[in-house]
Amino acid sequence: MSASYQSVLWNRQKKMYDMILAGFAVSYIVLFVIITLIVNPEATQETLIIRSTSTLALLLLHIILCIGPLTRLNPVFLPLLYNRRHLGVSMFFIGAIHGIFSIIQFHSLGNINPILSVFLSNTHYTSFIKFPFEIFGFFALVIFFLMAITSHDFWLHNLGPKVWKTLHMCVYLAYTSIILHVLLGVIQYETSPVLIVLLAIGLASVVTLHLVASHRERTKDREEFPVSEAFTKVCSVNDIAENRAKVVALNGERIAIFRYDKKLSAVSNVCKHQNGPLGEGKIIDGCITCPWHGYQYLPHNGSSPPPFHEKVATYDVKVIGQEVWVNPLPYAEGTERPPAYINTKDNGKVVS
Ligand code: HEM
Ligand code: FES
Repeated sequence: MSASYQSVLWNRQKKMYDMILAGFAVSYIVLFVIITLIVNPEATQETLIIRSTSTLALLLLHIILCIGPLTRLNPVFLPLLYNRRHLGVSMFFIGAIHGIFSIIQFHSLGNINPILSVFLSNTHYTSFIKFPFEIFGFFALVIFFLMAITSHDFWLHNLGPKVWKTLHMCVYLAYTSIILHVLLGVIQYETSPVLIVLLAIGLASVVTLHLVASHRERTKDREEFPVSEAFTKVCSVNDIAENRAKVVALNGERIAIFRYDKKLSAVSNVCKHQNGPLGEGKIIDGCITCPWHGYQYLPHNGSSPPPFHEKVATYDVKVIGQEVWVNPLPYAEGTERPPAYINTKDNGKVVS
């Protein structure tokens, strides 16, 4: 069992992540202000704040949306995913500065409440081109706010993974809303096509990465074995590297078969934290360690070591000669199942 087991706590890696993020945000804003003042020395402070924060929030939003598919395509991007929630919360704060300054700048001088003015100053609700584009920004900001305040694991546990995940999938709704906000804003106010071109590149990147990653995932599942309620031959012992897993899809469920200490154990591939792919993690200190944020599970019973309580389903595995056989019927989460022992005379070869 891991003595160094940690949940998602504040650690050195997180501090580094946050420092790099803060450094990037400050450098972006400084560079944006310098370039804007060179190109347009007349720009006011308010315009500089509104535009530097809006474009930075938009850039961070694109990075956040690309991280998921990028990690599915290449594990090199996993460190970016590790602290993605801090990226999301920072993006919300930066977007909120833009929203608040826009409301002060464009809506605070009238005789109606500035927030109401966002909805009432432009009433072209029946025209697409003239539609009050700020409402889309407002709507997206409300979603980012809800995501930011529920981003901590406290809310994940209290709302339950299903509700939490559904809420956080609303990021795609917010993204669509931001696309409309910027598109209509540019059409109504801008003469330069630069932002539209950058937005198109960003949208194309997000869509392409999602399509490629989902195609890759579907291809993996196409290797699915016939539906069965009995032990099914899935691979050879030598297909699994020491302290790593092979993921197989049996009866529509992904199962991760881990090889460690001349043994094999099979658990559900889905991490209890945020559905991370356990089979892409490795065994560290005797525990299956999720590649996303480091939640750990004991391979023989799928339970997190004390004092943690997460549990995943377990499966029976057996080894016949060099062949690995798995029974696709899951045991209740956290059920202890005896590992299958690898016959080292036959199967001494360890793949790396
Ligand atoms: C209460 C919420 C919001 C309001 C009232 C609002 C308002 C505005 C206004 C008035 C503009 C035109 C600014 C100008 O012409 O100088 C604008 C542009 C823009 N907004 Fe928002 N916005 C909000 C939220 C957001 C959010 C959350 C994002 C991104 C995550 C965003 C991204 C942008 C971008 C990229 C532009 C175009 C660049 C610019 O002109 O600043 N907005 N918004
Ligand atoms: S640790 Fe976060 S998804 Fe597994």
